[in-house]
Amino acid sequence: MTPTFDPTDPETALDPYPAYAALRDAGPVWYSPAMNLHFITRHADVHEAWRDRRLGSDFGDRPGFDAGAQPWRSGDYPAFARFERWDLLAIEPPDHTMLRRLVLTAFTPRAVEAQRARIDRSVEAALEAAGERGSLDIVRDLAEPLSLGVICDLIGVPEAERAGVIDLSHAVVAMYEPDPAATAKARADEAAGEFLDLVHALIADRRADSADDLLTALTVAEAGGRRLDDDQIASTAMVLLMAGHEASVNAAANGVAAFARHPAEWQAVVSGAVRPAVAIEEVLRWDPPLQYFHRWVLDDGITIGGPDGIAIPRGQRVALMIGSANRDGRRFDEPDAFRAGRGETAHLSFGGGIHFCLGAPLARLELEVLFAALARRFRRFELLEGVERRAGFQFRGYSRLPIAVDDVHDEGPGPGIVGDAGR
Ligand code: HEM
Repeated sequence: MTPTFDPTDPETALDPYPAYAALRDAGPVWYSPAMNLHFITRHADVHEAWRDRRLGSDFGDRPGFDAGAQPWRSGDYPAFARFERWDLLAIEPPDHTMLRRLVLTAFTPRAVEAQRARIDRSVEAALEAAGERGSLDIVRDLAEPLSLGVICDLIGVPEAERAGVIDLSHAVVAMYEPDPAATAKARADEAAGEFLDLVHALIADRRADSADDLLTALTVAEAGGRRLDDDQIASTAMVLLMAGHEASVNAAANGVAAFARHPAEWQAVVSGAVRPAVAIEEVLRWDPPLQYFHRWVLDDGITIGGPDGIAIPRGQRVALMIGSANRDGRRFDEPDAFRAGRGETAHLSFGGGIHFCLGAPLARLELEVLFAALARRFRRFELLEGVERRAGFQFRGYSRLPIAVDDVHDEGPGPGIVGDAGR
Protein backbone atom coordinates (compact mmCIF):
# COMPACT_ATOMS: atom_id res chain seq x y z
CA MET A 1 0.00 0.00 0.00
CA THR A 2 1.28 3.48 -0.82
CA PRO A 3 1.71 5.43 2.41
CA THR A 4 0.26 8.89 2.80
CA PHE A 5 1.80 11.80 4.61
CA ASP A 6 0.40 15.24 5.34
CA PRO A 7 2.71 17.48 7.37
CA THR A 8 -0.03 20.09 7.67
CA ASP A 9 -2.21 17.62 9.62
CA PRO A 10 -1.87 18.45 13.37
CA GLU A 11 -2.06 14.72 14.31
CA THR A 12 0.87 13.93 12.01
CA ALA A 13 2.81 16.91 13.32
CA LEU A 14 2.31 15.65 16.88
CA ASP A 15 4.21 12.43 16.18
CA PRO A 16 5.49 12.17 12.61
CA TYR A 17 7.89 9.29 13.28
CA PRO A 18 5.59 6.32 12.48
CA ALA A 19 4.62 8.02 9.20
CA TYR A 20 8.30 8.58 8.37
CA ALA A 21 9.02 4.87 8.91
CA ALA A 22 6.31 3.93 6.41
CA LEU A 23 7.67 6.42 3.86
CA ARG A 24 11.24 5.12 4.25
CA ASP A 25 10.09 1.52 3.78
CA ALA A 26 8.07 2.38 0.69
CA GLY A 27 11.06 3.89 -1.15
CA PRO A 28 13.76 6.53 -1.06
CA VAL A 29 11.43 9.32 -2.22
CA TRP A 30 7.78 9.99 -1.53
CA TYR A 31 6.02 12.49 -3.77
CA SER A 32 3.13 14.61 -2.55
CA PRO A 33 1.03 15.77 -5.51
CA ALA A 34 -0.89 18.12 -3.21
CA MET A 35 2.29 19.94 -2.23
CA ASN A 36 4.22 19.19 -5.42
CA LEU A 37 7.08 18.18 -3.18
CA HIS A 38 9.43 15.18 -3.16
CA PHE A 39 10.27 13.97 0.36
CA ILE A 40 13.73 12.40 0.72
CA THR A 41 13.51 10.22 3.80
CA ARG A 42 16.54 7.92 4.16
CA HIS A 43 19.71 8.92 6.00
CA ALA A 44 22.24 8.22 3.23
CA ASP A 45 20.15 10.10 0.65
CA VAL A 46 19.51 13.15 2.85
CA HIS A 47 23.19 13.25 3.78
CA GLU A 48 24.19 13.17 0.12
CA ALA A 49 21.52 15.64 -1.02
CA TRP A 50 22.90 18.27 1.32
CA ARG A 51 26.27 18.05 -0.43
CA ASP A 52 24.98 17.90 -4.01
CA ARG A 53 25.54 21.30 -5.59
CA ARG A 54 22.86 20.54 -8.20
CA LEU A 55 20.37 21.02 -5.37
CA GLY A 56 20.13 24.68 -4.36
CA SER A 57 18.44 26.73 -1.66
CA ASP A 58 17.45 29.23 -4.32
CA PHE A 59 16.84 29.03 -8.05
CA GLY A 60 17.76 32.66 -8.67
CA ASP A 61 16.44 33.92 -12.02
CA ARG A 62 16.48 30.51 -13.76
CA PRO A 63 13.38 30.10 -15.93
CA GLY A 64 10.89 27.24 -15.44
CA PHE A 65 10.74 27.24 -11.63
CA ASP A 66 7.56 27.55 -9.58
CA ALA A 67 8.03 30.88 -7.86
CA GLY A 68 4.64 30.32 -6.17
CA ALA A 69 6.31 27.88 -3.77
CA GLN A 70 8.14 30.85 -2.25
CA PRO A 71 5.35 33.30 -1.38
CA TRP A 72 7.74 36.23 -0.92
CA ARG A 73 8.62 36.15 -4.62
CA SER A 74 5.06 37.14 -5.51
CA GLY A 75 5.61 40.83 -4.84
CA ASP A 76 2.90 40.68 -2.14
CA TYR A 77 5.43 40.43 0.67
CA PRO A 78 8.03 43.12 -0.05
CA ALA A 79 9.59 43.30 3.42
CA PHE A 80 10.04 39.54 3.57
CA ALA A 81 11.60 39.62 0.09
CA ARG A 82 14.02 42.34 1.24
CA PHE A 83 15.11 40.10 4.12
CA GLU A 84 15.40 37.00 1.91
CA ARG A 85 17.64 38.78 -0.59
CA TRP A 86 20.56 38.46 1.84
CA ASP A 87 19.28 35.64 4.08
CA LEU A 88 22.30 33.36 4.46
CA LEU A 89 20.07 30.28 4.43
CA ALA A 90 18.46 31.23 1.16
CA ILE A 91 21.37 32.45 -0.95
CA GLU A 92 23.90 30.55 -3.00
CA PRO A 93 27.55 31.10 -3.99
CA PRO A 94 29.18 33.46 -4.67
CA ASP A 95 27.05 35.71 -2.41
CA HIS A 96 26.72 32.96 0.19
CA THR A 97 30.46 32.21 0.28
CA MET A 98 31.36 35.86 0.82
CA LEU A 99 28.80 36.49 3.55
CA ARG A 100 29.31 33.21 5.41
CA ARG A 101 33.08 33.73 5.49
CA LEU A 102 32.64 37.14 7.11
CA VAL A 103 30.23 35.86 9.73
CA LEU A 104 32.52 32.92 10.52
CA THR A 105 35.36 35.27 11.36
CA ALA A 106 33.25 36.36 14.33
CA PHE A 107 31.94 32.86 15.18
CA THR A 108 35.30 31.26 15.87
CA PRO A 109 35.49 28.28 18.26
CA ARG A 110 37.30 30.57 20.70
CA ALA A 111 34.58 33.20 20.60
CA VAL A 112 31.97 30.51 21.20
CA GLU A 113 33.87 28.82 24.05
CA ALA A 114 34.29 32.26 25.63
CA GLN A 115 30.52 32.22 26.17
CA ARG A 116 30.66 29.19 28.50
CA ALA A 117 30.89 31.10 31.77
CA ARG A 118 28.17 33.52 30.70
CA ILE A 119 25.88 30.64 29.69
CA ASP A 120 26.54 28.86 32.97
CA ARG A 121 25.72 32.01 34.98
CA SER A 122 22.52 32.54 33.04
CA VAL A 123 21.35 28.92 33.55
CA GLU A 124 22.23 28.96 37.25
CA ALA A 125 20.40 32.25 37.80
CA ALA A 126 17.30 30.98 35.99
CA LEU A 127 17.26 27.74 38.01
CA GLU A 128 17.82 29.55 41.27
CA ALA A 129 14.95 31.91 40.54
CA ALA A 130 12.77 28.93 39.64
CA GLY A 131 13.62 27.24 42.92
CA GLU A 132 12.63 30.34 44.88
CA ARG A 133 9.46 30.78 42.87
CA GLY A 134 8.54 27.10 43.05
CA SER A 135 7.82 26.79 39.33
CA LEU A 136 9.81 26.20 36.16
CA ASP A 137 8.70 26.35 32.56
CA ILE A 138 11.65 24.96 30.59
CA VAL A 139 10.78 27.12 27.57
CA ARG A 140 9.75 30.46 29.09
CA ASP A 141 11.92 30.51 32.20
CA LEU A 142 15.07 28.77 31.04
CA ALA A 143 15.76 27.95 27.38
CA GLU A 144 14.25 31.03 25.77
CA PRO A 145 15.91 33.65 28.00
CA LEU A 146 19.20 31.74 27.72
CA SER A 147 19.42 31.40 23.93
CA LEU A 148 17.93 34.81 23.25
CA GLY A 149 20.25 36.46 25.76
CA VAL A 150 23.36 34.82 24.33
CA ILE A 151 22.67 35.65 20.69
CA CYS A 152 21.50 39.19 21.54
CA ASP A 153 24.70 39.79 23.55
CA LEU A 154 26.83 38.49 20.68
CA ILE A 155 25.10 40.60 18.08
CA GLY A 156 24.61 43.64 20.28
CA VAL A 157 20.84 43.96 20.77
CA PRO A 158 20.07 46.10 23.84
CA GLU A 159 17.98 44.62 26.67
CA ALA A 160 14.99 46.83 25.93
CA GLU A 161 14.58 45.42 22.41
CA ARG A 162 14.90 41.73 23.29
CA ALA A 163 11.34 40.85 24.24
CA GLY A 164 10.15 42.05 20.82
CA VAL A 165 12.68 39.83 19.02
CA ILE A 166 10.93 36.61 20.13
CA ASP A 167 7.51 37.61 18.81
CA LEU A 168 8.90 39.01 15.57
CA SER A 169 10.98 35.89 15.06
CA HIS A 170 8.06 33.48 15.58
CA ALA A 171 5.93 35.51 13.17
CA VAL A 172 8.64 35.60 10.47
CA VAL A 173 9.50 31.88 10.51
CA ALA A 174 5.81 30.95 10.11
CA MET A 175 6.37 31.78 6.40
CA TYR A 176 8.50 28.61 6.06
CA GLU A 177 5.78 26.21 7.21
CA PRO A 178 4.50 23.80 4.55
CA ASP A 179 1.31 25.71 3.75
CA PRO A 180 1.01 28.95 5.69
CA ALA A 181 -2.40 30.65 5.96
CA ALA A 182 -2.86 34.02 4.23
CA THR A 183 -3.00 35.79 7.60
CA ALA A 184 0.26 34.12 8.70
CA LYS A 185 1.98 35.24 5.48
CA ALA A 186 0.75 38.81 5.89
CA ARG A 187 1.92 38.85 9.51
CA ALA A 188 5.28 37.33 8.51
CA ASP A 189 5.79 40.17 6.06
CA GLU A 190 4.80 42.83 8.58
CA ALA A 191 7.09 41.27 11.19
CA ALA A 192 9.99 41.06 8.71
CA GLY A 193 9.57 44.81 8.10
CA GLU A 194 9.55 45.60 11.82
CA PHE A 195 12.53 43.32 12.41
CA LEU A 196 14.52 44.96 9.60
CA ASP A 197 13.66 48.43 10.95
CA LEU A 198 14.91 47.40 14.37
CA VAL A 199 18.19 46.04 13.01
CA HIS A 200 18.74 48.99 10.65
CA ALA A 201 18.38 51.36 13.62
CA LEU A 202 21.00 49.34 15.52
CA ILE A 203 23.36 49.42 12.52
CA ALA A 204 23.00 53.22 12.37
CA ASP A 205 23.88 53.36 16.09
CA ARG A 206 27.01 51.26 15.53
CA ARG A 207 28.14 53.34 12.59
CA ALA A 208 27.91 56.38 14.86
CA ASP A 209 29.33 54.68 17.93
CA SER A 210 31.10 51.32 17.65
CA ALA A 211 30.89 48.55 20.28
CA ASP A 212 32.48 45.16 20.92
CA ASP A 213 29.82 43.12 19.14
CA LEU A 214 29.09 41.27 15.91
CA LEU A 215 27.05 44.12 14.45
CA THR A 216 30.02 46.46 14.70
CA ALA A 217 32.29 43.75 13.28
CA LEU A 218 29.99 43.40 10.26
CA THR A 219 29.98 47.16 9.62
CA VAL A 220 33.77 47.20 9.30
CA ALA A 221 34.32 43.74 7.74
CA GLU A 222 35.70 43.72 4.21
CA ALA A 223 35.29 41.13 1.46
CA GLY A 224 37.35 41.61 -1.71
CA GLY A 225 38.15 45.16 -0.64
CA ARG A 226 34.47 46.06 -0.23
CA ARG A 227 32.38 46.55 2.86
CA LEU A 228 28.94 45.08 3.40
CA ASP A 229 26.01 47.39 2.82
CA ASP A 230 23.26 47.91 5.40
CA ASP A 231 20.82 45.51 3.73
CA GLN A 232 23.40 42.73 3.78
CA ILE A 233 24.23 43.36 7.44
CA ALA A 234 20.56 43.63 8.44
CA SER A 235 19.52 40.31 6.85
CA THR A 236 22.57 38.59 8.33
CA ALA A 237 21.92 39.90 11.84
CA MET A 238 18.25 39.01 11.51
CA VAL A 239 18.90 35.42 10.43
CA LEU A 240 21.38 34.97 13.27
CA LEU A 241 18.92 36.36 15.79
CA MET A 242 16.22 33.97 14.59
CA ALA A 243 18.38 30.88 14.04
CA GLY A 244 20.19 31.69 17.27
CA HIS A 245 17.25 30.85 19.46
CA GLU A 246 14.38 29.16 17.59
CA ALA A 247 16.01 25.74 17.21
CA SER A 248 18.07 25.73 20.42
CA VAL A 249 15.02 26.47 22.58
CA ASN A 250 13.04 23.68 20.91
CA ALA A 251 15.97 21.27 21.27
CA ALA A 252 16.19 21.96 25.00
CA ALA A 253 12.45 21.42 25.48
CA ASN A 254 12.38 18.29 23.29
CA GLY A 255 15.27 16.96 25.36
CA VAL A 256 13.57 17.50 28.72
CA ALA A 257 10.36 15.94 27.36
CA ALA A 258 12.35 12.94 26.06
CA PHE A 259 14.09 12.42 29.40
CA ALA A 260 10.77 12.77 31.24
CA ARG A 261 9.53 9.78 29.21
CA HIS A 262 12.79 7.86 29.73
CA PRO A 263 13.70 8.27 33.41
CA ALA A 264 16.39 5.55 33.34
CA GLU A 265 18.21 7.44 30.59
CA TRP A 266 18.07 10.60 32.68
CA GLN A 267 19.42 8.65 35.67
CA ALA A 268 22.45 7.78 33.53
CA VAL A 269 23.10 11.50 33.04
CA VAL A 270 22.44 12.40 36.68
CA SER A 271 24.82 9.68 37.92
CA GLY A 272 27.56 10.86 35.58
CA ALA A 273 27.58 7.58 33.59
CA VAL A 274 26.69 9.56 30.47
CA ARG A 275 28.15 13.02 30.04
CA PRO A 276 25.81 15.86 29.02
CA ALA A 277 27.87 16.49 25.87
CA VAL A 278 27.07 12.93 24.77
CA ALA A 279 23.43 12.97 25.89
CA ILE A 280 22.57 16.08 23.89
CA GLU A 281 23.61 14.37 20.65
CA GLU A 282 20.93 11.74 21.29
CA VAL A 283 18.41 14.48 22.10
CA LEU A 284 19.23 16.12 18.77
CA ARG A 285 19.00 12.82 16.88
CA TRP A 286 15.86 11.43 18.46
CA ASP A 287 13.58 14.46 18.22
CA PRO A 288 15.23 17.20 16.15
CA PRO A 289 13.89 20.74 16.53
CA LEU A 290 14.00 21.35 12.77
CA GLN A 291 12.24 18.62 10.83
CA TYR A 292 13.18 19.42 7.25
CA PHE A 293 14.66 21.90 4.77
CA HIS A 294 13.85 22.50 1.11
CA ARG A 295 16.08 22.40 -1.91
CA TRP A 296 15.43 23.09 -5.59
CA VAL A 297 16.60 20.71 -8.30
CA LEU A 298 18.73 23.07 -10.39
CA ASP A 299 19.96 20.60 -13.03
CA ASP A 300 18.87 17.50 -14.87
CA GLY A 301 20.21 14.11 -13.89
CA ILE A 302 19.36 14.03 -10.17
CA THR A 303 18.65 10.52 -8.94
CA ILE A 304 17.86 9.77 -5.30
CA GLY A 305 18.50 6.39 -3.69
CA GLY A 306 21.57 5.22 -5.61
CA PRO A 307 22.12 4.65 -9.33
CA ASP A 308 18.83 2.75 -9.73
CA GLY A 309 16.98 5.27 -7.63
CA ILE A 310 14.27 7.74 -8.46
CA ALA A 311 14.96 10.53 -10.94
CA ILE A 312 13.70 13.98 -10.03
CA PRO A 313 13.51 16.48 -12.88
CA ARG A 314 14.98 19.98 -12.91
CA GLY A 315 12.64 22.63 -11.49
CA GLN A 316 11.21 20.34 -8.79
CA ARG A 317 11.43 20.91 -5.06
CA VAL A 318 12.65 18.34 -2.57
CA ALA A 319 12.34 18.17 1.22
CA LEU A 320 15.37 16.85 3.11
CA MET A 321 13.64 15.08 5.99
CA ILE A 322 15.92 15.40 9.02
CA GLY A 323 13.48 13.79 11.45
CA SER A 324 13.13 10.75 9.23
CA ALA A 325 16.85 10.41 8.39
CA ASN A 326 17.68 10.45 12.11
CA ARG A 327 15.41 7.43 12.70
CA ASP A 328 16.62 5.40 9.73
CA GLY A 329 17.42 1.81 10.76
CA ARG A 330 19.82 1.61 7.80
CA ARG A 331 22.09 4.00 9.70
CA PHE A 332 21.20 3.69 13.40
CA ASP A 333 20.83 0.59 15.53
CA GLU A 334 17.31 0.44 17.07
CA PRO A 335 16.61 3.93 15.77
CA ASP A 336 13.42 4.54 17.74
CA ALA A 337 15.09 3.80 21.07
CA PHE A 338 16.17 6.86 23.03
CA ARG A 339 19.57 6.01 24.51
CA ALA A 340 21.36 8.90 26.22
CA GLY A 341 24.74 7.18 25.92
CA ARG A 342 24.41 6.19 22.26
CA GLY A 343 27.37 8.43 21.38
CA GLU A 344 26.35 8.98 17.74
CA THR A 345 26.97 12.32 16.06
CA ALA A 346 25.94 11.14 12.59
CA HIS A 347 22.48 12.64 12.96
CA LEU A 348 21.61 15.30 10.40
CA SER A 349 20.03 17.80 12.78
CA PHE A 350 22.54 20.52 11.86
CA GLY A 351 22.26 19.92 8.11
CA GLY A 352 25.27 19.50 5.86
CA GLY A 353 27.24 20.92 2.95
CA ILE A 354 27.76 24.65 2.46
CA HIS A 355 24.76 25.62 4.63
CA PHE A 356 25.80 23.42 7.57
CA CYS A 357 24.60 25.12 10.75
CA LEU A 358 26.91 27.98 11.49
CA GLY A 359 25.73 28.07 15.09
CA ALA A 360 26.22 24.34 15.84
CA PRO A 361 29.12 24.87 18.28
CA LEU A 362 27.13 27.53 20.13
CA ALA A 363 23.96 25.41 20.18
CA ARG A 364 25.91 22.41 21.49
CA LEU A 365 27.53 24.51 24.20
CA GLU A 366 24.19 25.95 25.36
CA LEU A 367 22.56 22.52 25.47
CA GLU A 368 25.51 20.90 27.24
CA VAL A 369 25.63 23.54 29.98
CA LEU A 370 21.85 23.53 30.34
CA PHE A 371 21.51 19.75 30.72
CA ALA A 372 24.52 19.58 33.05
CA ALA A 373 22.87 22.15 35.32
CA LEU A 374 19.55 20.31 35.21
CA ALA A 375 21.32 17.04 36.08
CA ARG A 376 22.84 18.68 39.15
CA ARG A 377 19.34 19.54 40.42
CA PHE A 378 16.74 17.14 39.04
CA ARG A 379 16.71 13.38 39.66
CA ARG A 380 13.73 13.10 37.36
CA PHE A 381 11.49 15.33 35.30
CA GLU A 382 7.80 15.44 36.01
CA LEU A 383 5.80 17.32 33.41
CA LEU A 384 2.97 19.38 34.85
CA GLU A 385 -0.38 20.41 33.49
CA GLY A 386 -0.12 23.21 30.96
CA VAL A 387 2.31 21.56 28.55
CA GLU A 388 1.73 23.15 25.16
CA ARG A 389 3.18 21.99 21.87
CA ARG A 390 4.36 24.56 19.42
CA ALA A 391 2.08 24.79 16.39
CA GLY A 392 3.45 23.86 12.98
CA PHE A 393 5.61 21.15 11.52
CA GLN A 394 9.02 22.39 10.51
CA PHE A 395 9.84 23.86 13.91
CA ARG A 396 9.20 21.04 16.36
CA GLY A 397 9.05 21.85 20.04
CA TYR A 398 6.98 23.27 22.85
CA SER A 399 5.68 26.73 23.63
CA ARG A 400 5.27 25.78 27.30
CA LEU A 401 6.90 22.96 29.22
CA PRO A 402 6.27 23.35 32.98
CA ILE A 403 8.00 20.80 35.21
CA ALA A 404 7.77 20.05 38.93
CA VAL A 405 10.52 21.65 40.99
CA ASP A 406 9.87 19.86 44.29
CA ASP A 407 12.30 17.04 43.49
CA VAL A 408 15.38 19.22 43.40
CA HIS A 409 18.38 17.42 44.83
CA ASP A 410 21.67 18.80 45.93
CA GLU A 411 24.21 16.05 45.89
CA GLY A 412 27.71 17.04 45.02
CA PRO A 413 28.97 18.41 41.78
CA GLY A 414 27.05 16.08 39.39
CA PRO A 415 28.22 15.39 35.88
CA GLY A 416 31.23 17.27 34.58
CA ILE A 417 31.06 19.53 31.57
CA VAL A 418 34.75 19.87 30.95
CA GLY A 419 35.48 21.03 27.42
CA ASP A 420 34.19 18.85 24.61
CA ALA A 421 36.23 15.73 25.30
CA GLY A 422 34.60 12.49 24.25
CA ARG A 423 31.83 14.14 22.26
C1 HEM B 1 19.90 22.97 18.24
C2 HEM B 1 20.00 24.10 17.61
C3 HEM B 1 20.14 24.27 16.14
C4 HEM B 1 19.78 23.42 15.11
C5 HEM B 1 19.15 22.03 15.22
C6 HEM B 1 20.14 24.08 13.88
C7 HEM B 1 19.95 23.52 12.63
C8 HEM B 1 20.35 24.10 11.43
C9 HEM B 1 20.22 23.48 10.12
C10 HEM B 1 19.59 22.11 9.84
C11 HEM B 1 20.74 24.33 9.21
C12 HEM B 1 20.86 24.10 7.70
C13 HEM B 1 19.72 24.67 6.92
C14 HEM B 1 19.79 24.36 5.43
O1 HEM B 1 20.61 23.56 5.00
O2 HEM B 1 19.00 24.96 4.67
C15 HEM B 1 21.20 25.51 9.94
C16 HEM B 1 21.75 26.60 9.37
C17 HEM B 1 22.10 27.74 10.07
N1 HEM B 1 22.10 27.90 11.45
FE1 HEM B 1 21.48 26.56 12.82
N2 HEM B 1 20.67 25.30 14.16
C18 HEM B 1 20.71 25.45 15.53
C19 HEM B 1 21.21 26.53 16.24
C20 HEM B 1 21.76 27.64 15.67
C21 HEM B 1 22.30 28.76 16.40
C22 HEM B 1 22.43 28.87 17.92
C23 HEM B 1 22.69 29.69 15.48
C24 HEM B 1 23.26 31.05 15.69
C25 HEM B 1 24.36 31.38 15.97
C26 HEM B 1 22.42 29.13 14.17
C27 HEM B 1 22.69 29.75 12.97
C28 HEM B 1 22.52 29.18 11.73
C29 HEM B 1 22.82 29.88 10.49
C30 HEM B 1 23.29 31.31 10.35
C31 HEM B 1 22.55 28.97 9.46
C32 HEM B 1 22.71 29.22 7.96
C33 HEM B 1 24.07 28.82 7.51
C34 HEM B 1 24.25 28.97 6.03
O3 HEM B 1 23.28 29.02 5.29
O4 HEM B 1 25.41 29.03 5.61
N3 HEM B 1 21.86 27.88 14.32
N4 HEM B 1 20.95 25.33 11.29
